[in-house]
Amino acid sequence: MEPPSSPAHRGHGHWQRLLLAVSLLTFWNPPTTARLTIESVPPKAAEGKDVLLLVHNLPGRLSGYAWYKGDRVDSSQQIATYVIRRKEITPGPVYSGRETIYPNGSLLFQNVTQKDTGYYTLQVITKILLSEVGTGQLRVYYSVAQPSIQASNTIVTEYKDAVVLTCLTRDAGISIQWFFNNQSLWLTERMKLAQDNSTLTIDSVRREDAGEYQCEVSNLVSSSKSDLLSLAVSSLVEKGGLHPLLRNEDPPCPLF
Ligand SMILES: *[C@@H]1O[C@H](CO)[C@@H](O)[C@H](O)[C@H]1NC(C)=O
Ligand SMILES: *[C@@H]1O[C@H](CO)[C@@H](O)[C@H](O)[C@H]1NC(C)=O
Repeated sequence: MEPPSSPAHRGHGHWQRLLLAVSLLTFWNPPTTARLTIESVPPKAAEGKDVLLLVHNLPGRLSGYAWYKGDRVDSSQQIATYVIRRKEITPGPVYSGRETIYPNGSLLFQNVTQKDTGYYTLQVITKILLSEVGTGQLRVYYSVAQPSIQASNTIVTEYKDAVVLTCLTRDAGISIQWFFNNQSLWLTERMKLAQDNSTLTIDSVRREDAGEYQCEVSNLVSSSKSDLLSLAVSSLVEKGGLHPLLRNEDPPCPLF
């Protein structure tokens, strides 16, 4: 007598299930809301960071996944496959060593570069060997480099001198902010920003302008502050109240 789990029986059952699945599939239109979708987290990534391509609306009864670079299933662009039962990742031709497939199908990308920008496609294989495909986009932006700050002069005399501070950066598409003594710079009526905030003119300087200046550049995904630049403002009027320009003596000392 044949045991119920004989290969013949299993094969027969499998075949029946497959037929049933095929006939169900013929009449089953997945609602558009339940379509397999891929979401990049974060949506805009900075170079060197990690990005997760999250999978939503997975079908049930899964046996595995295959991830591809590009907007379609193309075996020459396969990153890796994952067999759920064995929890096993098999690298494909374009696997870089920075990708991990999780049991829920999501793909973790470590240390992304701008070259990783593009479309990625997930193929989900169900236990009945039907497949469903979803595509998502990964966008990687460069991180800004540290700017530097340059001053027309760093020791100036109050009421007399003007100073121009310039924020130097090689990055494009950035915005610039200024800091004074580690606080956002509060613009007085003697200060003027120009050239997309890259130059700060103080005309004329006062003693209260003495301190540490910094500029910060930022883009969608990153920001970087310059080193501190110290501005020393010397007093035009000495302690005695005598105007030094009226005396043939030493010039006033810087206060800092
Ligand atoms: C899938 O698993 C990863 C890692 O455990 C998790 O971060 C992510 O949120 C999961 N995705 C979904 C859609 O639940
Ligand atoms: C990230 O990638 C860059 C080059 O793409 C490499 O120089 C750096 O060492 C990598 N960092 C980590 C933490 O793997």
